[in-house]
Amino acid sequence: MRTKDSGRFVKISGIGSYVPERILTNNELEKMVDTSDEWIQTRTGIKERRIAADNQATSDLCVLAAQRAMESAKISRNDIDLILVGTITSDMPFPSTAVIVQSKLGLSNIPCFDYNVACSGTQYGIELASSLLTGSRKYRNILLICGDKMSSVVDWQDRATCVLLGDGAGAMVLSVTENGEENSIVDVLLGANGGLWELLFLAAGGSKEPASFKTVENRKHFLRMSGRDVFREAVLVMQSCAQEILSRNNMTIEEIDFVVPHQANLRIITALQERLGVFDEKICITVDKYGNTSASSCLIAMDTFVKSGKIRRGSKILSMGFGAGLTWGAAILKF
Ligand code: UT7
Repeated sequence: MRTKDSGRFVKISGIGSYVPERILTNNELEKMVDTSDEWIQTRTGIKERRIAADNQATSDLCVLAAQRAMESAKISRNDIDLILVGTITSDMPFPSTAVIVQSKLGLSNIPCFDYNVACSGTQYGIELASSLLTGSRKYRNILLICGDKMSSVVDWQDRATCVLLGDGAGAMVLSVTENGEENSIVDVLLGANGGLWELLFLAAGGSKEPASFKTVENRKHFLRMSGRDVFREAVLVMQSCAQEILSRNNMTIEEIDFVVPHQANLRIITALQERLGVFDEKICITVDKYGNTSASSCLIAMDTFVKSGKIRRGSKILSMGFGAGLTWGAAILKF
């Protein structure tokens, strides 16, 4: 991405991710709710997911992903001049998780803030970071982190949601470059439809319905989702934003090396693959191993394919996100 005549471009300097060590299998879930490994695998493609330890907050997941991204960028934490954290499971309502991450990384003074767009965190974060890097002349390296401890907001008695989600974090270092050849951000397209917020939400604990014995009793501190409606919207919206961003950049799907969709459900990914005409070898899938890790899902999938050597420097990536809000986004990147 480049502002007109600014001579400033944005490159992805490094990427990293972290998932907790604890694996929760479908067989274990069978003992917790009325479900089966067969149902979960057939309906979602999920085999297992990672669950954070009790003493691990979202900021802890973010710090580990951030350290890996900075290592991969070969830059010191002192070179970071702004931290962005995309999360819907902040450590606490305030302060932001970003300031806690800053402190845990041993940094101070640099600006830090959270943003809340759920599973479109990667695409919104890339747009935010790129715009700050090219539009203001104040920043050179932005640490973008997306992380969620979904296990802390999942109702472990609700079989329709608890089998879907997992914990994890992904991070990217985005840096200014004056060399247009190094530009990584081809385009980003974002959108939202607040009219559909009731399809996926967590009702209590905010200013509308503060925590009380009643909210706890009514299990209102857990997320609720109209799965079938969200499924339909996810396919339609991710398909249309992928097509729109390709078309406005005069590109075809054949020119894309890797497609990194939000990892919510293998059936959603397969439907997108068919509708967009993406070959198997180009589609990045991690939902089987990690489930839906919310904001971090695209960054974790991207990092997994970078670490396996498939995505390389110069690879063209199309990534689509979709989540609570409803929000959505698509990005074309040159890694
Ligand atoms: O990241 C944000 C975006 N989130 C998503 O994109 C998730 C989108 N939604 C989905 O992935 C799917 O809708 C689900 C995986 C949540 C559900 O799959 P589905 O094929 O849409 O199933 P359904 O909700 O239509 O339910 C079918 C049946 C129901 O039983 P009846 O009414 O047909 O008797 C459910 O009660 O499956 C039942 N069911 C389960 N059965 C066993 C729902 N959850 C389970 C379960 N185990 N875990």
